[in-house]
Order: sequence, then structure tokens, then C-alpha cells
Amino acid sequence: MSEQNAWKRRASEVVFVGCVAASMAACGAEPESAPTWYRDIQPLVDRSCAACHDGTGVGRVNLRDAATARALATTMAARVEAGEMPPPALDPSCQPYAGADRMYLGAEERARFRAWADAGAPLGDPSEATSKPNGLAHIDDPDLVLEMPEAHEVTPDDDGNEYWCVVLDNPLAAPTWIKALEAVPGDPLVVHHIGLYRDAGHDAGAGYGVPPGTKAFSCRNPVLELDWQLLHAFAPGVSVMELPKDTGIRLDPGEQIVMQMHYYSPKPGALDRSAYRMRLATEAPKAEVFMDVFGPVPFSIPAGVSKHVERSVITNEDGPTTIYGLLPHMHLLGRSYNAWIEDDAGAGACVARGDYDFHHQALYVFDKPLQWQPGQRLVTECTWDNSATSKGQSHFPPLDVAWGEGTNQEMCFMVAYLSRP
Ligand code: HEC
Repeated sequence: MSEQNAWKRRASEVVFVGCVAASMAACGAEPESAPTWYRDIQPLVDRSCAACHDGTGVGRVNLRDAATARALATTMAARVEAGEMPPPALDPSCQPYAGADRMYLGAEERARFRAWADAGAPLGDPSEATSKPNGLAHIDDPDLVLEMPEAHEVTPDDDGNEYWCVVLDNPLAAPTWIKALEAVPGDPLVVHHIGLYRDAGHDAGAGYGVPPGTKAFSCRNPVLELDWQLLHAFAPGVSVMELPKDTGIRLDPGEQIVMQMHYYSPKPGALDRSAYRMRLATEAPKAEVFMDVFGPVPFSIPAGVSKHVERSVITNEDGPTTIYGLLPHMHLLGRSYNAWIEDDAGAGACVARGDYDFHHQALYVFDKPLQWQPGQRLVTECTWDNSATSKGQSHFPPLDVAWGEGTNQEMCFMVAYLSRP
């Protein structure tokens, strides 16, 4: 176990035996002490699994359904023990963030999954159910829903990728600030990412050479190629983003709002109609938040190398900057992610640190915003495994992998929420 996981090790020193008894032998001897679905397992599933396993998310199987969970009890225990579920997340001891408790299971909680499976996955007494569905997973009372006007038939290229932009109707009559955002992928099995952009130029397609007024068109790399401003990035595993108190993302009447879809599907024909749900405020917040992207571009990861590191170092030349949160982004070969602030005087801060899994790209909002002062450097560092045995390897033997938006290429980005006075 690496040093950065030391806090997890601490958690594992807490012992749980499925019942509050003095000795494990005493617990095992009493059948009613075995964990039950309603009392012991459902609350964990709702807290730490439901965001992806509610039947609509990337986890495919609906573990909130008791019958499905019972059928998968042994697999659940094995995946949890292997540390694969829930997938790795950033280490909150580097920078505490909202919802960290949902991202990890403690040792006693992992043991509970095993004890439940070993006991035959009993349901127990429904009157003991305490669980509420994961309240953070959805915005149930949106002020605004922006949906693709019609379903798009996914038509991937030879590598399985399609990049598709849709201009959404902007119904706003006055400046408005986004307080919370949720992407709702239409077909979660083919949506690799969604970028939500705004374009004050009133004709978003102009940069792609399509006739004026075109509302849907093929598009790549808007974040690098165009003057669109990124509002939100969704990737598998990202759930609702709540903006910190007294902050908001500004939207203006008349500007175009664009959803850039990256679809990844081995075969054509999937139908996707994705949407965004938002909670809004009409009063200006103290700080207007915007998104910016940092990371090394371009690079190449040599074939066969099991630990390849790339890094970008950016000195703040724009004035005092507050960092509210970030989304680490790599593709399938990405293994770990590191970011920090440093300066010559030895000051700085840990920004992000943790193992990386493509299927768990949470957007992290820090408990306390970070200050990035003029002259300080923001370092973003990614590590990949491009060996033949790498999880996520798609080439046998491995090939050099270039930077790019394709799922079979790689990226290293920090998509960060910032404000400047
Ligand atoms: C951030 C998303 C996410 C979270 C949270 C998550 N999973 Fe998963 N899970 C996935 C994805 C994606 C897959 C499919 C890929 C795979 O099997 O690795 C999966 C697969 C599984 C499978 C295999 C299902 C099958 O068809 O055999 C099990 C079992 C599982 N997860 C259990 C859990 C449990 C238990 C939790 C909570 C403690 C959890 N997962 C939390 C994303 C997630």
C-alpha cells in the first residue's frame, strides 16, 4: 500500500464484526447477528454504490434492487474486498471535499459485505430499513432542463468515436447563475463525456464551418480550438455538482449553450438524447465561477511502459485565484493523479492525489476553496500504465499512445472551477 493510502490503512484499523458484540465467536454463533439487507447492506449501497448502480448509471446493474443485490452478493463482496468497488477516488487527506464519505468504504463496511454474502444474503426485517436513496445523485426539482431537441443516432468512426455538438435553446430573459448542475446522459453506455459550453458569439457552428443557424453538427476539441467557455464536464461516474455557497456560474440571455457529446460505441445505432438539469439563482452571487483546463499537451506514452509520467507546470500570471474544485481526467490507461501548488518560498498546497479509474470521474468540490496566488505554480501530473497487462489496454502488443480526445488515446487534464476578484 502506498504512502498516499495511509489514511485508508488507518480506517482499516477500526474493527467491525457485523454485530456489536465483545467477541467474533459470540457473533458468529447467533444467526440473528448476521448482517441483513434492510438493516446493514442497503444503507451502504444507497450511500456508496447507488450513484452508479441505480439501474440508470454507468454501473449497469441495479444494486438498489434487493433481488439483484442478493444474486450478486458474493461478487459484491469480492469487488469490495479487492478495492475495485466503489472505484478509486481522490484522497480527502490531500484536500477535503464534499461527499468524501460516500467515495470509500471503511474496513468494517467491507467486512459487512462478506459477512452478508457468507450468511446467504438474508433480507431481514423491512421495518428495520433506515435507508434513503442517495439524495445527492439527482436534482429532483430543477429550475431549468436543457435537453437535446431530438434523439441522435450514434454513428461512430472506425475507432468507435463520434463527436457531436448540439445547440440547446436558451430560454433565459435575464442574467442567471447556476447553483447546481446535473448531466443526464440519454444512453449511459455510449456517452464517454459531455462538455457543456456557452458561446457568446450567437453562432456556435461558425468555427466548424457549418451553415449559419445549424443546430447540430460534428465537432472535436472545442476546448482547445474555439472560444467557447466550458461550464461543466461530465464523464462516467460524475453526479450532481453543487456550487459552493455564495458562488454561481453565469448564464446570459441570448448566448448559445452547446452540449458537446463524445460517444464511444463499437457499433452504430445507439440512440441518445442527453440533457442537463439545473438549479438557478436570479441574484448575483459574491463570486462568479468559471471553468478552466490545465494539463500537459501534447505527449506520447511509449508502448510497454508500466509507469509513464507527464506533468504541466503553470505559473499564475492572472492575479489572485480561488480554486473551488476540479475534475481529474485521463482515459483508460490512467492510473494515478497528482496536483499541487508550489512556489520558490516553499509555500503551497496539495490539490489532488489519488488512484485513478476511468469509470469514476467524480467532480470534486473542496470543503474550503484553495488560494492560488500570483507567481505560484500549479502542477498537474498524471501516471499511466501502457504495459500489456494494464487494465484498459486495448492493443496487444501495446502501441505508443498519443494525446487525443479518442478513448484509445490519452489525456491528462485538470478541469478546475475558479474565480478571480
Ligand atoms: C462511480 C461509479 C461506481 C460506483 C460508486 C460503484 N460502482 Fe460498481 N461498477 C461500476 C462500473 C462502471 C461497473 C462495470 C465495470 C466493472 O465491472 O468494473 C461496476 C460493476 C460492479 C459489479 C459487477 C456487476 C456485474 O455485472 O457482475 C459489482 C458487483 C459492483 N460494481 C459492486 C459495487 C458496489 C458494492 C458498490 C458500492 C460499495 C459499487 N459497485 C460502487 C461503477 C461503480
